[in-house]
Amino acid sequence: MRKVHVALGNRSYDIEIGQGLLPRMGAKIHTLLPQAETIAIVTDSNIGPLYADTLRQGLEAAGVKAPVLTFAAGEESKNLTTLGQLYEGLAKAGVTRSDAVVALGGGVTGDMAGLAAATFLRGVAFVQVPTSLLATVDSSVGGKVAVDLPCGKNLVGAFLQPKAVYIDTDLLQTLPARFLHDGMAEVIKYGCIFDAQLFADLGRIHSDQELLAVAEGIIERCCNHKARVVEEDERETGRRMLLNFGHTLGHAVEKAFHYETYSHGEAVGIGMVLLTQRTEALGLTEAGTADRIAALLQQYSLPTDVQLPQQEFLQTIAMDKKKRGDSLTLVVLRKIGEGFLHKVAFRDLPAYLPEEEGHDER
Ligand code: GLY
Repeated sequence: MRKVHVALGNRSYDIEIGQGLLPRMGAKIHTLLPQAETIAIVTDSNIGPLYADTLRQGLEAAGVKAPVLTFAAGEESKNLTTLGQLYEGLAKAGVTRSDAVVALGGGVTGDMAGLAAATFLRGVAFVQVPTSLLATVDSSVGGKVAVDLPCGKNLVGAFLQPKAVYIDTDLLQTLPARFLHDGMAEVIKYGCIFDAQLFADLGRIHSDQELLAVAEGIIERCCNHKARVVEEDERETGRRMLLNFGHTLGHAVEKAFHYETYSHGEAVGIGMVLLTQRTEALGLTEAGTADRIAALLQQYSLPTDVQLPQQEFLQTIAMDKKKRGDSLTLVVLRKIGEGFLHKVAFRDLPAYLPEEEGHDER
């Protein structure tokens, strides 16, 4: 078992990563939160049937009531309506201020259960049990919780650090290949912005079996990077923004295709390549970097290009949370392993977007 500590004063917590953790998680959560008499498990219709019973039984064996609140799987559920249903479920289950919420699932579950925990009764304790690779390496760590609005992703949210993150790598075995690869886009992102060695190591993995065999170590490396950056800049006023590499263009891709064609990781991968092609052309990035990123993404069956009019990128970016006044901070690579923040006036943004050549093929 591996442990990564996130040092945030009285909001510090551990990320535990290992095989076979799920059956022991109920006892662990009870030890962590001994005052909680009810611990609500929030999960979705894909993950709940697979794992909620094991977690519930572990909590009940520790003497804790563990109601399971299940919502329909998918990004389209991550909204204020489902959040309202969660509040109702927590109230009906008798959750009080000394109780807790556990998110059992991927990024959508963690984000939405976390926002419910941050706001129900003005805040109850929260634990993350991420079940997708993307959630283990990114969304379950660092305290960002949110739901989407029709006009954009994650526009209503809060910062709520979990009391712990428990990652059972056995759960990754049941992930459909597409979602394993989806998480690899965020893993590759860590290599791009912080860790040339990780980037090189990822190039030496040639099958999903090999990947799963080393997943524990990869997750630990990514969580370490995330923990250090969150410790330094919890509220994302500076260095934490580096984690948004590929996300500005990626969010535009996700939105333009109505969150249906590309998963989050796929869109982020496309965003990393498209931006780096432009920053290479602008002389900000070492030549050949975009091709190296594209080759590594392709190794994990991830897309690297999309046809989208510049106007669609500009419209979505105008709504971006990262926009400040008339400028935007982009994350750019100097070279693989070295990201930096680059402020761009909105009027100069077209130079950082893919040049128009084809047509919109949606
Ligand atoms: N997903 C980026 C962050 O947590 O800051």
